[in-house]
Order: sequence, then structure tokens, then C-alpha cells
Amino acid sequence: MDLSRFPRRRYTQGFTPLEHLPNFTKALAATCPDGAGPNVWIKRDDMLGLTPGGNKTRKLEFLVADALAQGADTLITCGAPQSNHCRATLSAAVKEGMKCRFVIEERVPNSYKVDASGNNFLFRLLGVEAITVVPAGTNMLAAMQQVAGEVAGLGRKGYIVPGGGSNAMGGLGYVACAQELQQQFFDQGVQIDKIVVGSGSSGTHGGLLAGFLGNHIHIPLIGIGVSRDPADQNPLVHKEAQAVCDLLGLGITVSADAVVSHGNWWRPKYSVPNAAMVEAVQMLARTEAILLDPVYTGKIMAGLIGLARQGHLKPDENVLFIHTGGAPSLHAYEAEVLGLVDMPA
Ligand SMILES: Cc1ncc(COP(=O)(O)O)c(C=O)c1O
Repeated sequence: MDLSRFPRRRYTQGFTPLEHLPNFTKALAATCPDGAGPNVWIKRDDMLGLTPGGNKTRKLEFLVADALAQGADTLITCGAPQSNHCRATLSAAVKEGMKCRFVIEERVPNSYKVDASGNNFLFRLLGVEAITVVPAGTNMLAAMQQVAGEVAGLGRKGYIVPGGGSNAMGGLGYVACAQELQQQFFDQGVQIDKIVVGSGSSGTHGGLLAGFLGNHIHIPLIGIGVSRDPADQNPLVHKEAQAVCDLLGLGITVSADAVVSHGNWWRPKYSVPNAAMVEAVQMLARTEAILLDPVYTGKIMAGLIGLARQGHLKPDENVLFIHTGGAPSLHAYEAEVLGLVDMPA
């Protein structure tokens, strides 16, 4: 598959590491039936470029190249109050000498605090130009179009980056990741049996799926929903994977069965902590010194741990966890991840 015909900015030098997690594997096995669990590997996309990495960097390489090709000088995007995507988009704007504005959706009422820590602090440090806060359920595209109108009124040109950077163009970033993984499996002599990936706005899961189909990689992808159960999540991933395949002109029809995800671990609500997330964040920090985040990767890793304990990930399997980043929001949830606050299972 030839990605070279799509304009792309480069925010990362080389590949992100593909590593085995021996200590975590051992700790997980001790909590699985018969003391045996899968062999866990990690793809360190938390170490991608921009401040400080995470899955959005891959999508933004293509989206920002498109914005620049269209003559835009301002990136406009949207997200939740602790949005990694907004922070990464702002970071790309800074690097490109562009301005950046956000529309922040208060998915949990009153959750936006102007002086909050975590990503919100980074919004201010990196110099966001303007933030518009709207209530849950607002039409985010219309809200971003309004901001684009305000920017145009100043004689400038805005470019709307969709929520999570998840459209066909953004999904190309995870097609590139599929190709990178294929090369690393070959170079490192690693055979992976299953891959666990977060599934939210779906550019990561859908883009990887398109990349796997296009490159004939037959490793099952297991999505862990961060805000939806499979009945709602799978159609989004399917639509994204198909859109990416179409943009690439692959002539592939993505079958519905190719999309697999699990719910459970995101509850009680998107971004609201639960005990399984706390266990996962502490376990990876204390066995491998790798940071997860409370909103996404902590819950995604809790899904991997849960699937291993339930026997869906078997003791003889090599399972790869895609670390999609997000560590800055740890600082907005310090008491929770230290286990100092009561919360649901
Ligand atoms: C750290 C992190 N992991 C996973 C996801 C989910 O990825 P996607 O939105 O591509 O489904 C996000 C989305 O914001 C994220 O910030």
C-alpha cells in the first residue's frame, strides 16, 4: 500500500518501540486462573512526537499537511475538558507556526475548570488562542464552523480537525502504524497473536483495521471501548475503516465481523474513574515504570487484564497492547489513581 501520495508532516523520528513487558506479564499471570496469563507486549505510541506523544500525533501528520496544503493558518478542533486530542492539535499548531482554537464539550456537567491541571494546564502553557465551552450534546461541527467564521472575520483561514482526528485522512496515521508494526514484527522476529487497542472516536482502531486488511496482516484486533458498548462502537469503527480503505482506493469491503470490541471497562461513564482502571494504572507503573492515563489507556489496559483473567487471552498467546498515550491527564486525577478515593468497580 502506497501512502507516499498523501501529503504528510513528520512529528516523530523513526519507529516507536515495540517492547516485551516481562514484569507486567509475570504480575498479570499471578492474578489469572492457574497462575498463567498471556505474554504481554507494548507498542509505545505514547512516545510519538508532539507534546508529549500519543495516538493523535499519527493522525495529525496527515491532517495538518492537508490544512497547510489548503492555506490554513488556524487549527480548530473539539474535545472533552481533558482532551489529549486538543492538546496534541495545539502542539502541532505551535510547531507549524499556526494558531489553535478549541470547542470544549462538558460531557460531564461542570467538568471544565479554567485552572484545572493535566491537559488543561498544557492548553494554557502551549498558548491556545481561544476556548469555547459548550454543554453535552451540542452539535460540535456546527460549533467549530462558527469558530471558523470568527477566524475568517479576522482575515484568517481556519481548518477544522474533526473530534479525535478521526476521519479518513486522520485514519491514514494508523495505516502507517500497521506498516510500521509489520516491519517491526519482521525485524524483531516477534509473532503477535492478538492486539488490544482503544476504541473511541475510532480513528485508531478503524485506521489499524484498514491498514491490516490492506497489508494482509491477519492478527485479530480487539477494541476496548472507552465510551460505548459494542452495539454503538462497532458501527463507528466499521465506517472509519471503510472510509480509510476507500480513500486508499483499496477496493475492499470491510466485513462487519472484522470489527470486534468490548464494553464494560469504560463504565460508569466516559472519563469517570473506576477501580479496574486504578489497578491497571498502578500495575503498569509499578512493574514497568510506564504511565497510563485515567480516561483512556488505564481503562483499555483494564480491559486487557480482564480479558486475560476471563481466559479470552490465553497463556500461550503473545498479546500486544497499543499504548495510545494520555499521561498528562494523570495530574488531573492524582488522588483517584493513588487509590485515595472510593469508586465503582
Ligand atoms: C490516550 C488516548 N487513547 C485512546 C484514544 C481513543 O482513540 P480514538 O479516538 O482514535 O478511538 C484517545 C482519544 O482521544 C486517547 O486520547
